[in-house]
Amino acid sequence: MLHLMLLYRAKIAAFQLQRRMAKPPSERKIRADGRIATLTKEHVGECRTRTLSFHDTVRARQSCRSFSPTPVDPAQIREVLDDARWTPSNCNTQPWQVHIVSGAKRDEMAQALLGAASTGKLSLDFSFDDKLFDGRYGERRREHGALYYSSLGVARDDTEGRRIASGRNFTFFGAPHVAFLLMPSFGDNVRVAGDIVMFGQTFLLALAARGLGGVPQTVLGYFADTVRECLGVPDTMKLLFGISFGHPAEDTHLTQVRTGRDEVDSFTKFHQ
Ligand SMILES: Cc1cc2nc3c(=O)[nH]c(=O)nc-3n(C[C@H](O)[C@H](O)[C@H](O)COP(=O)(O)O)c2cc1C
Repeated sequence: MLHLMLLYRAKIAAFQLQRRMAKPPSERKIRADGRIATLTKEHVGECRTRTLSFHDTVRARQSCRSFSPTPVDPAQIREVLDDARWTPSNCNTQPWQVHIVSGAKRDEMAQALLGAASTGKLSLDFSFDDKLFDGRYGERRREHGALYYSSLGVARDDTEGRRIASGRNFTFFGAPHVAFLLMPSFGDNVRVAGDIVMFGQTFLLALAARGLGGVPQTVLGYFADTVRECLGVPDTMKLLFGISFGHPAEDTHLTQVRTGRDEVDSFTKFHQ
């Protein structure tokens, strides 16, 4: 058995070396540790847009809830997707199916979602009950709600104001585009969903790196049947969330909630 494993590993190593050496020298880079790293044109892409550094990108990304109606250049949307496709996934299964909705279709979907919301009949593929968060998690949820609604000038006991504010999810907060992230269903789906979330984060960072805004929205998944019907996809494809995106509006700072984060040592234990 050990003999077979060693043979298999040697075969893989030989195959990798063969592939590396097959690349023209211009595409090979010697890393600091002396090993050869291969960057193909496919990895690098044709970088038409200047992007922020990684450090700045992760800090620039915030949920944007106020957008300019000006559409994003379709070539730039492709660049964002081209970055997002390098997301890791369990066994490289790449389970994401992305639907980018813009223009008249976007307006049609907003109307359909508002209609579905008015019936109050939810069709969630994945349950979500924010009241289940307890302890510090519940506190953070309440802190976020208070910050969010106060930034909109909506009082704590203003139920109608909250309903209207929440309804902006269905008109994509005025964004000209929305990406629906759909996935096939396997087992309890937790790991597939994990892959989709990773894709979502790469997508959001790719937007932020280009100065674009986006907001992930679980609320769009409350009416998964409506979304599927509009997109013409079968109910075997599940909807985790959507991401509204576009150019941030000039007055974004008025509605932007700058959320905080706990310090590294509060959630990390270092073991040696
Ligand atoms: C998976 C996911 C789903 C979310 N769903 C919604 C949503 O339905 N509506 C909304 O306004 N914000 C939604 N958010 C945004 C969060 O409220 C936001 O990420 C959080 O408050 C942290 O703020 P930040 O993104 O500005 O850093 C969602 C975020 C994630 C990661």
